[in-house]
Amino acid sequence: MSKRFTDRLVLVTGAGGGLGRAFAQRFASEGASLILTDVDVPLLEETAALLRAQGTVCSTHKFDLASESETLQFAAEICSQHPRLDVLINNAGLAYGEISHSFAALSQQKWLRYFAINSIAPLILAQALRPSLAEAKGVVLNVSSMAAFMPATAYGVTKSSLNAMTYGMANTFGADGIRVNAIAPGLMETPASTAQLPPGTHERIQSQQALKLHGTAEDISALAAFLASDDARFITAEIMSCDAGNRLRGWRS
Ligand SMILES: NC(=O)c1ccc[n+]([C@@H]2O[C@H](COP(=O)([O-])OP(=O)(O)OC[C@H]3O[C@@H](n4cnc5c(N)ncnc54)[C@H](O)[C@@H]3O)[C@@H](O)[C@H]2O)c1
Repeated sequence: MSKRFTDRLVLVTGAGGGLGRAFAQRFASEGASLILTDVDVPLLEETAALLRAQGTVCSTHKFDLASESETLQFAAEICSQHPRLDVLINNAGLAYGEISHSFAALSQQKWLRYFAINSIAPLILAQALRPSLAEAKGVVLNVSSMAAFMPATAYGVTKSSLNAMTYGMANTFGADGIRVNAIAPGLMETPASTAQLPPGTHERIQSQQALKLHGTAEDISALAAFLASDDARFITAEIMSCDAGNRLRGWRS
């Protein structure tokens, strides 16, 4: 495997989860050092132990992305310790439970929490880390969803907003040479998607795809490594689907 991230520093939020862990492992395998964050400390430490066992340098940080003050404090620490940050992956998010099946009857309080974590926190964090990202002419990747393109749930609406946020971030951060893109995964197998979604969901979604393939976290981390690498230096303000063609389902019988 090529080592496109040797001597580069990559920050992954939600690094205890399925996609977050896959991002961390992929960038580590390509030579990066990692900054890992999550609210779930045991899962976060599990990811860190996996990386350290293969010789990767990484640090772990617990903070809640719903809290602006915790986010800003974390980012200030990172900027003072690391004047250069090459990649920020805004992966953490709420994807399961009520947000994934509710829409019309949700309270304003719930909507605001969902937007705070899924749509706004990626901007707050990136802006707070901007000095270090700018120094490295770094890359921000926002983890969206195929649900953004058919937002019939609160989850889809927050990811649709994240797509819009990605365009705004790319436009603003481009002044510092920072590229900003989003990845819109289809349904990928992760511990959470397997445990939290109703039985048969993976099979149902797979049957809707143009390619009848089983999506894995590694499909997404491979795309992230490309988008964060110098191979993608001319790509910014892009929402890249990785869904085996699922988004075409409205046009198929
Ligand atoms: N797995 C899929 O099929 C799929 C598809 C499309 C998009 N996504 C997106 O990918 C990301 C990861 O999905 P996953 O399947 O690995 O889910 P996951 O629930 O395992 O991972 C999300 C991680 O974010 C962390 N997190 C949640 N709220 C947080 C907060 N307030 N502050 C800090 N950390 C917080 C969680 O603790 C968790 O470790 C999510 O943004 C999800 O919307 C996943």
